[in-house]
Amino acid sequence: PFAFLQKHLILIFMTQKSVRAYAPATIANVSCGFDVLGLALENLGDEVVLRLQDKSEVSITKIEGDGGKLPLDPTKNTCCVSIIEFLKKIDSKQGIAVELYKKLPLGSGMGSSASSAVAGVWAANALMNYPLRKEDLLSCVMEAERVACGTAHADNVAPSLLGGIVLIQSNQPLEAVSIPTHLHLYCSVLHPDLVVNTKDSRRVLPTEIPLQLATKQWGYIAGLVAGFLKNDMGLISRSMHDCIVEPVRAKLIPHFYAVKEAALSAGALGCSISGSGPTIFALSENRIIAERVSEKMQSVFIQHRIKSNVYTSPINQEGGKII
Ligand code: HSE
Repeated sequence: PFAFLQKHLILIFMTQKSVRAYAPATIANVSCGFDVLGLALENLGDEVVLRLQDKSEVSITKIEGDGGKLPLDPTKNTCCVSIIEFLKKIDSKQGIAVELYKKLPLGSGMGSSASSAVAGVWAANALMNYPLRKEDLLSCVMEAERVACGTAHADNVAPSLLGGIVLIQSNQPLEAVSIPTHLHLYCSVLHPDLVVNTKDSRRVLPTEIPLQLATKQWGYIAGLVAGFLKNDMGLISRSMHDCIVEPVRAKLIPHFYAVKEAALSAGALGCSISGSGPTIFALSENRIIAERVSEKMQSVFIQHRIKSNVYTSPINQEGGKII
């Protein structure tokens, strides 16, 4: 009778085991690094609760905070797609029930779909007792990003998973490189109450680039990465320019240039569109400047009666975590 009881207690424990995970919002592109550079933010991100379940499938039991907009079909929901890819990778038929708590606005340019996918995969990895390292999970979250945006680019998912500033040396085959810096940079993140869909804001992009412009841009991106590595604020500031993507996408964001001007005059090192927009971000050398920059950026929207939220955040160094 003791063995019987023990077996059943273990079974009850197994089916009730649950994990809650969080993954941070991100700023993709970081101005000049279209599809190849991203960084993670602090205190902003999606959460999931995962439970083992007997039936051998990944299913959503609850989504909160999406206004009913996200698909409940696990093959279309980014959080579930990354979990399904993870289970395939470890060759497991384990069933998992998913609760998703959306804290990030959809279509905001803060890596909302990536954040859900990363939280999901990191929770699933914990639930299965950590068979894989974070680096090995990147391909699973890339697949989720492909479902969400139509293309698999890692500049949101990699920093959300790994934390810090991440360079995507190549999307295919994937090589993500963490860029260390000793600087304590702060981000100002201004999110207007507007939705810009990543698919739409990729459609407006040029398909060909004049060599002169391309040369300018790859000078900027190399300069920005070198600036982070050398802890050189001046080089970072001189490199935070995007002469290819920003001019096209700025047209989709009302008063973008006025916000940018406000950020730069308040002392920001640089300012551009976060991911595919409409969120606008600025980078500053410390919290005090960043808070002033945030306030000045938002004052432009207040002046034009556009509802917005503003956040001031250091760069998150940890990425996805169990909470
Ligand atoms: N690099 C992507 C873009 C990020 O700018 O379209 C958005 O997911």
